[in-house]
Amino acid sequence: MDFGVDYMDKKSFAGFYKKEIKERQEILAKEFDLSKDEKALLSKESALPFSVANRMIENVVGTFPLPYSVATNFVIDGKDYIIPMAIEEPSVVAAASNAAKISNGFETAADEPIMIGQIQVINIKDAEHAKNTIEHHKTELLELVEKVDPVLIKFGGGPKDLQVNILEDEKGKMLEVQLLVDVRDAMGANAINTMTEKLAPKIEELTKGKAILKIISNLAIYRRAQAKAVWTKDALGGSTKGKFNGEEVVEAILNAYRFAVATQFRATTHNKGIMNGIDAVMIATGQDFRAIEAGAHSFAAYKGKYSPLTKYSKDKDGNLVGEIDMPLVLGIVGGAIKVHPLAQLSMKILGVKTAEELARIIVSVGLAQNFAALRVLSTEGLQKGHMRLHAKNIAVQAGATKEEIDIVAAKMVEAKEVSQGKAEEILGEIRK
Ligand code: MEV
Repeated sequence: MDFGVDYMDKKSFAGFYKKEIKERQEILAKEFDLSKDEKALLSKESALPFSVANRMIENVVGTFPLPYSVATNFVIDGKDYIIPMAIEEPSVVAAASNAAKISNGFETAADEPIMIGQIQVINIKDAEHAKNTIEHHKTELLELVEKVDPVLIKFGGGPKDLQVNILEDEKGKMLEVQLLVDVRDAMGANAINTMTEKLAPKIEELTKGKAILKIISNLAIYRRAQAKAVWTKDALGGSTKGKFNGEEVVEAILNAYRFAVATQFRATTHNKGIMNGIDAVMIATGQDFRAIEAGAHSFAAYKGKYSPLTKYSKDKDGNLVGEIDMPLVLGIVGGAIKVHPLAQLSMKILGVKTAEELARIIVSVGLAQNFAALRVLSTEGLQKGHMRLHAKNIAVQAGATKEEIDIVAAKMVEAKEVSQGKAEEILGEIRK
């Protein structure tokens, strides 16, 4: 592969994974001609110590911090929560906190933590017969995988069911064996992957086929969480500082929701707003946020049409009711949760005792985030609010000092022009 950097010698990276972090940093510094300041970026230790990071992934050369923040005002199932969020995007935390503040609180529900493992079986002569054979031996097969994780069984989890589907493509038929496992407080990938691997040889023996993939499915349709919240029309009217009355805001949000139902182009961005909140809490609590992302979007399309993960309606008093329902694959044992010091701190701040409680919190943040986006988009427009924070960043980039930042940002927002050029122009004026 050509790295496209002339001065870089690929040979220096041979056996990179076997080296100490310090040696790797030195190689990078040499090969990419890093300055003293750039080298300092790599060697600066963060809340995630190098010794821990180095055990988490391969080829570690440093750590990559994100802003770590907390959302406030959340009352979920009658309990107050302060919710840690790690995210680079301005406005997300403020929007979630504000949405929670003007809501009547969140009511939630969650399914049992049932995850799906898949085994793909090919080279089968008679798919119907193979399916029947597996089904006939179901009890025996479930007993076989029960032994994989005795701790899970002790806590009431473990393998619960086995289902077989016949799939067909242009090359012929294959089997999909789905193993349903109650993973309790775990995310479940480890348990499921071990169990499907254990099951595969027996499935091959029974079907005379070949088991290829043995892996968790991230489309966790049985492990969903739901949240519901009411925003009264009075609170909604008040939130626009008198620019719109409550009825207008309710109608505006309902219309915004209709747009997401009507077109996938909008539904995708609608769901992205939900994931802004969900991913931020997932990252702060050391979860596999890619698993949630994959599952969320797949679930959004599960009924054949990619749809919004939330829905909105009006109650009999004309107040806005928001609801969300989506798969939430997460755990409070294993993975990065136990090794990343900030993930542990987040768990302490949240005070959650089960993965289910965490799912209920996270799904509420997703709903709050989506509500906040719809409220702003359907009333005053996004850029105004966004621009205030963005303007400060631009002011800093243009060289504004600590005292000048707020003045330059305010003038740019007032002029409705937020750009480096404008910031420089304003700086020139105020420095005269
Ligand atoms: C931006 O990160 C998220 C939004 O685009 C979500 C939405 O449009 O609903 C504001």
